[in-house]
Amino acid sequence: CFYTKVDKSLCIACGSCGALAPDIYDYDEEGLAYNVLDDNTGVAQIPALFEDDLIDAKEACPTEAITVQKTPH
Ligand code: F3S
Repeated sequence: CFYTKVDKSLCIACGSCGALAPDIYDYDEEGLAYNVLDDNTGVAQIPALFEDDLIDAKEACPTEAITVQKTPH
């Protein structure tokens, strides 16, 4: 299982993550991404159904703002 969060200090609001994983990532009022499943705390286990999208989004982020790990953040 996986956990994820976005480092907003690295996010440049490119918009790829929400396009690739709309069930996980959305954007705040500044266009910066966050994990909607746990308000970007990185403690919610990502449902298995969304894992492929998760990996696609992480790999697509141009600034490596998305962290994915196997334990809660
Ligand atoms: Fe930001 Fe990377 Fe998503 S730059 S909008 S976290 S793909």
